[in-house]
Amino acid sequence: MKQVARLFSLDGKVAVITGGARGIGGATARLLADAGARVAVVDLLEDEGEKTVGEIVAAGGAARFWRLDVGDEANVARVFADVEAHFGRLDILINNAGIEGENIPTDQMTLEQWERVMRINVTGTFLCTKHAVPAMERAGGGAIVNVSSMYGLVGGPDVPAYHASKGAVRLMAKTDAQLYATRNIRANSIHPGFIRTPMLEQALSKHGPLENVIAGMAQLNPMQRIGVPEDIAAGILYLVSDAGRYVTGTELIIDGGYTSR
Ligand code: NAI
Repeated sequence: MKQVARLFSLDGKVAVITGGARGIGGATARLLADAGARVAVVDLLEDEGEKTVGEIVAAGGAARFWRLDVGDEANVARVFADVEAHFGRLDILINNAGIEGENIPTDQMTLEQWERVMRINVTGTFLCTKHAVPAMERAGGGAIVNVSSMYGLVGGPDVPAYHASKGAVRLMAKTDAQLYATRNIRANSIHPGFIRTPMLEQALSKHGPLENVIAGMAQLNPMQRIGVPEDIAAGILYLVSDAGRYVTGTELIIDGGYTSR
């Protein structure tokens, strides 16, 4: 095998991708399976999740769907135990499930609106990491990626709970990197810019005709275009494969240059 193929190979590995049914999670599930991993697609969306699994299997990969609410600890514990029993091990966790929540200024947001975002984006990441780490230790090590955002690095004048949640998962990766480094478990965060997914389309369609809003948004970016889910999946593959074996506690920004100015 050529060195480059060996570096990015996930042969023999098992990966859980939360929110793996569609968008960035779907592209990541497909790419990690293409690299040789057996993939657990976990999500609330059953039809989309089964569709993603079907695409992976049709392409010659191995995958299975589990319905999971990342904010429900009993559900997380059961699904992670099931995944390990089904595939025999667990090596990789992508904490990708997330919601944007309400676009309401801080002074008008209710506690319930705030807590709904935190429960999925932050508590969900905590719970999945908590229940993945013992399985990774049994496998001899592992790699965790928290999907943050460029808005986990800089602020924005909207969705305050979302930005706070993305800052939290960035720091959680750094803490977990230090906690588990000697146990051969790496943890990093990835920071997407504007990526065309159902989440982004739903948020933007409130501001006018979708293609016009997207074209306007692209102008905010030095590269003058928004990204696609595969742009982020490629960075995740780097972080979880042998190519990233000395990388832990860091943050990979993939935003077309947005945060460079
Ligand atoms: P998406 O909405 O297309 O996908 C998110 C997935 O998470 C969906 O399949 C959804 O069903 C699932 N999900 C939501 N709540 C869940 C729960 N409680 N339990 C399990 N699964 C749940 O969104 P997208 O854009 O693919 O987002 C993926 C991640 O990337 C999110 O964490 C998001 O915050 C982050 N991100 C996205 C950016 C973008 O421009 N699209 C930019 C920066 C970060």
